[in-house]
Amino acid sequence: MTGPYDEAFTRSINDPEGFWGDVAEDIDWIKKWDKVLDDSNKPFYRWFTGGVVNTCYNALDRHVEAGHGDRLALIYDSPVTGNTVRKYTYQELRDEVARFAGVLAAQGVAKGDRVIVYMPMVAEAAIAMLACARIGAVHSVVFGGFAANELAVRINDAKPKVIVSASCGIEGAKVIDYKPLLDGAIALSEFKPNKAIILQRPQAPCELKPGFDIDWREAMASAQPVDCVPVAATDPLYILYTSGTTGEPKGVVRDNGGHLVALNWTMKNIYNMEPGDVFWAASDVGWVVGHSYIVYAPLFHGCTTIFYEGKPVGTPDAGAFWRVIADHGVKALFTAPTAFRAIKREDPDAKLMANYDLSKFEALFLAGERTDPATLEWAQNALKRPVIDHWWQTETGWAIAANCMGLEPLPVKPGSPTKPAPGWNVHVLDENSEGIPRGDIGAICVKLPLPPGSLPTLWNNDERYINSYLAEFPGYYATADAGYMDEEGYVYIMARTDDVINVAGHRLSTGGMEEVLSHHPDVAECAVFGVADSFKGQLPVGFLVLKAGVSKPNEEIVKDVVQMVRQQIGAVAAFKTATVVDRLPKTRSGKILRGTIQKIADNEAWKMPATIDDPAFLDEISEALEGIGYAMARQ
Ligand code: COA
Ligand code: AMP
Repeated sequence: MTGPYDEAFTRSINDPEGFWGDVAEDIDWIKKWDKVLDDSNKPFYRWFTGGVVNTCYNALDRHVEAGHGDRLALIYDSPVTGNTVRKYTYQELRDEVARFAGVLAAQGVAKGDRVIVYMPMVAEAAIAMLACARIGAVHSVVFGGFAANELAVRINDAKPKVIVSASCGIEGAKVIDYKPLLDGAIALSEFKPNKAIILQRPQAPCELKPGFDIDWREAMASAQPVDCVPVAATDPLYILYTSGTTGEPKGVVRDNGGHLVALNWTMKNIYNMEPGDVFWAASDVGWVVGHSYIVYAPLFHGCTTIFYEGKPVGTPDAGAFWRVIADHGVKALFTAPTAFRAIKREDPDAKLMANYDLSKFEALFLAGERTDPATLEWAQNALKRPVIDHWWQTETGWAIAANCMGLEPLPVKPGSPTKPAPGWNVHVLDENSEGIPRGDIGAICVKLPLPPGSLPTLWNNDERYINSYLAEFPGYYATADAGYMDEEGYVYIMARTDDVINVAGHRLSTGGMEEVLSHHPDVAECAVFGVADSFKGQLPVGFLVLKAGVSKPNEEIVKDVVQMVRQQIGAVAAFKTATVVDRLPKTRSGKILRGTIQKIADNEAWKMPATIDDPAFLDEISEALEGIGYAMARQ
């Protein structure tokens, strides 16, 4: 017997043009597409070719024109600025966005130009993003926790005409000056933007450079609102950089048409939201979750979205999430499991929940890392509502596997994000690209074409797109996650197969950290790997091999490299532990055995690799790990 989920899934795979063509009717098109799925240039599939659309129009104007101008579009809630709450109706948000689009246009920003947005969690970040979409400019939001060097790398790649930023961000009790980071990045980058538009915040105003920096409010006061510019469905809406195997981030591109169609569909079918409902993604605009579910999808669907500038704990306490849910009548919350582990650590019996009215709250969605069964169980017991793990990536833009709550809720299996969402033809493959039996672990891949909303390519780098995702398993997109599917088709995500780690739901590259470490004058060789952490999921740990004759004490060198990662990548890397070793375990061909080191550190079963150069290496590594508090168990 098949239910609505099976029907939708089967149709989406067997008849993708029919399925997505129907779904696309929910979007307001300036001109409808000529072809739903254009496969004329494989492996570059394009959705809705020939279609003309505007993303901002679908997020804002169409709701105003349909008579919903007074409905709340966005609520900014900021416990870190004296409990500021600011509410924007659809009409107000549309007007602000149109005006800021005028500010950008006055600086010569036009269709196709790039704009970097480097901002904290303030409503103006959404206004800047939507204003870009309004005029067909391509935004690239850079997470505020990244340091100047990371921002510089993105400036060089995206080549923005303008950067939009703020004087400061507020991280719990800390005020972080953004301006020195921004100025530092522009000084470091080869490409120079024409102008920076700065939102001055009273917590730490900054000095503006005459002729280069523009004050947000002053520019808004004299700006003329501008209308939506028609763009091709296949034109880029944004670039979002994400960690890859090296320190060079990948510029994930999102198009306009496919993104609109897919995200709008997910709001009802995955999250069970109706227009007018309040949706809250407690993430950051710098991550894909922030793009898709703080800004775009809730607005496409006519919902109210929450912009929360705070933390799950400490702003002021572990009841913060319940307070926001109660104050704004949130129906669904989306966050990372680590946020719930933070709450559980401080309020193990969820006692603070009793102080709040959660009657409108229906479901919790978790992603960004695997939801461990203990966290799932705790959240289920505390909330007494469905807790839904779903699996996705920056590249995919929305869930690859999910329990589609608006389509047909399926039984939850702890440790699994349920089944592939419609559109995602998930297979588990061996190294010869052959399917493997259910229950066996392999590479999780998605048969091409990927559904609308997923990345069409990497910014200015088709070759890297192919090499990173499509080359290893011909005809498939390699997710770089390993795992299995059970007999019922539930997916289980077990580990990354590359050098990416996941720290507090933040995706980071160990290769990028190694690049920083290797620049220390005393370091000859190094390895960074992720070790399991009961709070943040994983934490990076570094091993350093020093050059001969180094006289500086080891502890000082460790302090140096910790500081270097903080300065060059950012505090968000949470790189705090490193140790000096005599040598690194390698294969005979010279490859560092990071996976084995990680297993030893995590006290997991491991086998002596057949290709190891010298088995004694591993005893040394075990000792080094013990020295920094990690146990080992040789088998
Ligand atoms: N700007 C500047 N610095 C930032 C930052 C930002 N936007 N975000 C984080 N940082 C800093 C933190 O202040 C911290 O600095 P510290 O080393 O001086 O203490 C460091 O980066 C590490 O941050 P984080 O890993 O987030 O740890 P935390 O202890 O500050 O907070 C959580 C832990 C669990 C509360 C927090 O990570 C969280 O809420 N995560 C869940 C939601 C989420 O963001 N998910 C992302 C994808 S869905
Ligand atoms: P990001 O691109 O930052 O969203 O990170 C994507 C990666 O995070 C995935 O490739 C997974 O390794 C991991 N991830 C995200 N969501 C989940 C989940 N629900 N279960 C397991 N891993 C997840």
